[in-house]
Amino acid sequence: MSFPAGHPVTAAPVTGIRRFVRPPGAQQGAASPLASTGRPLNWAVVATGSIARTVTADLSLLEDSVLHAVSSRSQARAAEFADRFGFAASYFDADGGPSGFEQMFADPAVDVVYIATPHAQHFDVARSALQHGKHVLCEKPLTVNAAEAAELIRIARDRNLFLMEALWTRFLPSANRAWDILASGELGTPSWVQADLGFPAPADPAARIWDPAAGGGALLDLSVYTLTWAVAALGWPDDIKASGLLNEHGVDIQNALTLHYDDGRHAQLTSSLAASGPGTATIACSAGWLRTGGGDLYNPGELHVSGPAGVRVESFDRAGTGYTYQLREVTRCIQQGLTESPAMPLEDTLRTLELLDGVRAQLGLRYANDSHADAATG
Ligand SMILES: NC(=O)c1ccc[n+]([C@@H]2O[C@H](COP(=O)([O-])OP(=O)(O)OC[C@H]3O[C@@H](n4cnc5c(N)ncnc54)[C@H](OP(=O)(O)O)[C@@H]3O)[C@@H](O)[C@H]2O)c1
Repeated sequence: MSFPAGHPVTAAPVTGIRRFVRPPGAQQGAASPLASTGRPLNWAVVATGSIARTVTADLSLLEDSVLHAVSSRSQARAAEFADRFGFAASYFDADGGPSGFEQMFADPAVDVVYIATPHAQHFDVARSALQHGKHVLCEKPLTVNAAEAAELIRIARDRNLFLMEALWTRFLPSANRAWDILASGELGTPSWVQADLGFPAPADPAARIWDPAAGGGALLDLSVYTLTWAVAALGWPDDIKASGLLNEHGVDIQNALTLHYDDGRHAQLTSSLAASGPGTATIACSAGWLRTGGGDLYNPGELHVSGPAGVRVESFDRAGTGYTYQLREVTRCIQQGLTESPAMPLEDTLRTLELLDGVRAQLGLRYANDSHADAATG
């Protein structure tokens, strides 16, 4: 440990934390994320599952979004989704012909694609969208491994297209307020982080979350959020130790990550598909602590702050379900000709996936996508 004996209580801005760039509007009381920031964009949505529905409902609230097209593997699901949300066009997999999403990407009216398939399909679908010249917002994690992400980033940069992982927490007013409090020095220096996320997932072998072919498991689904809080408070770790429990299909049911920092700080992160915990992030600092509340740590409605002046609870409203903030950022970036969001840079996505690749090596967790990436890189 290299801590000095006794931390001074200071209100000076602290160093050593990684304050993510705040997207415009990610502040309580800022202009509504629903208000237009430029020319309307034509959106195309890939998949009709659970998150596709929730995010599309938020997308429909933006003044400058046009729900242009949806694609599905099934004609009936594409038609139902288009009808429910008012998409102008729907595409589906043709027997022996091109997939629904490939047909949709050939539509010249599409500006930007939102990908909401299981993890294992993210790479193929996002690559196809980029190769058709479309901007891309892809659900988390961007890909199953870092090699796939690096290839998508290369294509996007070659073609001057926008690409972003849909890590929506980064754009929320509540999360940005937490990171502002930490950076202000009010609570002193962050020393350790504890975060958990999980729920008892029903034992449905057909569900993508349990399916190794879909890139299932707790790590890829949930740990991107616990890591977000650790990296925001402590920066990127110097080392990481992982333990976990895999099921008989080789998917991780639960995992524990300990992030180590050379100066002695640490973070303990748990993700689980077996049990629900409080779903909070706690950041312990030399002059107080901060804990998320009012919902899981990916979308906290409250911050509980204990500092030299006592304990307080800050509460936050959300526009829509809360995806509106990231959708505003994607829209603003594309309207302004940016190819990545300063608040969710591609470098952060790549570093996270490199870190998760290392964790998976420790856990013995491999997916079919890893073999494809190995083959592609020789
Ligand atoms: N940001 C968030 O808060 C959040 C929350 C939950 C999940 N997610 C992420 O969103 C993605 C999708 O999760 P989800 O919970 O929405 O999953 P889901 O309910 O299982 O939906 C996935 C959809 O993908 C399509 N699909 C395409 N190829 C598929 C294949 N080979 N096998 C199965 N489905 C396929 C299906 O739509 P069609 O049948 O119409 O083709 C399916 O309905 C994941 O990346 C996940 O991590 C994000």
